[in-house]
Amino acid sequence: MKAYRADLLDFAADPVWGDTVADGAVRFREDHWLLVDNAGRIAGVQAEAPGPDVEREDWRGHLLLPGFIDTHVHSPQIGVMASYGTALLDWLNNYTFPAERAWADPEVAAHGSAHFLDALLAHGTTAAAVFPTVHKGSADALFAAAAGRGMRIVAGKVLMDRHAPDGLRDDVVQAERDCVDLIQRWHGQGRNSYAVTVRFAPTSTEAQLAMAGALCRADPTLYMQTHVAENRDEVRWVGELFPEARSYLDVYASAGLLHRRSILAHGIWLDDNDRAALRETGAQIAFCPSSNLFLGSGLFDWPAMLAAGGTVSVASDVGGGTSLSMQRTLADGYKVQALLGESGAGHKLTAWTALHAATRGAAEALGLAHEIGSLEVGRMADFTVWRWSATPVDTERQRLARDLHEKVFAWMTLADERHLRGTWVAGRMRHDGRQEAASPQANQERREA
Ligand code: GUN
Ligand code: ZN
Repeated sequence: MKAYRADLLDFAADPVWGDTVADGAVRFREDHWLLVDNAGRIAGVQAEAPGPDVEREDWRGHLLLPGFIDTHVHSPQIGVMASYGTALLDWLNNYTFPAERAWADPEVAAHGSAHFLDALLAHGTTAAAVFPTVHKGSADALFAAAAGRGMRIVAGKVLMDRHAPDGLRDDVVQAERDCVDLIQRWHGQGRNSYAVTVRFAPTSTEAQLAMAGALCRADPTLYMQTHVAENRDEVRWVGELFPEARSYLDVYASAGLLHRRSILAHGIWLDDNDRAALRETGAQIAFCPSSNLFLGSGLFDWPAMLAAGGTVSVASDVGGGTSLSMQRTLADGYKVQALLGESGAGHKLTAWTALHAATRGAAEALGLAHEIGSLEVGRMADFTVWRWSATPVDTERQRLARDLHEKVFAWMTLADERHLRGTWVAGRMRHDGRQEAASPQANQERREA
């Protein structure tokens, strides 16, 4: 058993939109102890110091949160971040597809996957739904690297059998074989889960979409992940490619790809019928604000999705997104909602709704709330410790905060990976923020131990 002393913040329930008090949903336990058992699970939260036989770590004056959950991110796209000058379709052709081709090489995939997961840990993210590349070996490399770090990962080989360059296309027969093999070897192994990963409608034939739908029907424990209605030119193109479909989302619905374990990134250009279909099927939207702003894709209307009964999580979408930091992502999410709201608070994203979506909300949407997303007894001890402030500027801002929401909202808006002191996965420290500047080598050894 080990005990960690800090200011503990997590959520007992979904905060009401716009409610900065959120009594009953927000659980802020100042100067408490988090107890972690030897199996890496949370064994208790208490105000009293544990007995003398329990090993202690004193993080007094620091914020302790459940590890962040990034529900949509691309492992081969770290090197694509901050690529200048294009919107989605040209960005894919000019920057992204060339970068992904290199992952045909198993060594590139192994090295890149390790680098990617270490970067997630160094930003306080302990769980993610990830797109590798079309190459089977890219999924193998990611799952193996995640298993080595004990991380909770949802991923699958990317399906794309058309409208992609040479070296980045599969075909229906081989893709199905690869999926079946990867599912057998990785789905439910440790903390890995398989996601049938359709890149997006334009890069799959109807036959491939049907194959993907059949995989989902054959095993309802599989996830499905894709992109939908991100960019207006993309939506127009999908209309041309699938003239029978009522909408972009309907392409996926017709193929049997919408279910409780479906994660659809973006969903900016949806209509009321689409939102109703998401509610009925239980599929979630991964809101990717920094990507949507960077690529000029559009403004996702979060309250409209909530009003329709839909589920929303938050994601970095690196390399369209400009940071792996979930705080930066949430801060961008606030700005996107602010731009949508014409008359004040109706569209203002509270720190509570934002942080819930990046922890417990995402866990619930993924059907993983029994394992991750909160500081409850029995959950895996995936958690992070943060400085409340790291510079003279945000120290002054913290000093002036008058209530808890103001304090946490200022933190969410101003903090990033520089504030991270440590990331624990299943009770084991996998990133030491105190050592990063002095010794990247020490962290490397810690991760690979
Ligand atoms: N649509 C299809 N592929 C991608 C991708 O890699 N990133 C983003 N943001 N959108 C996509
Ligand atoms: Zn994406």
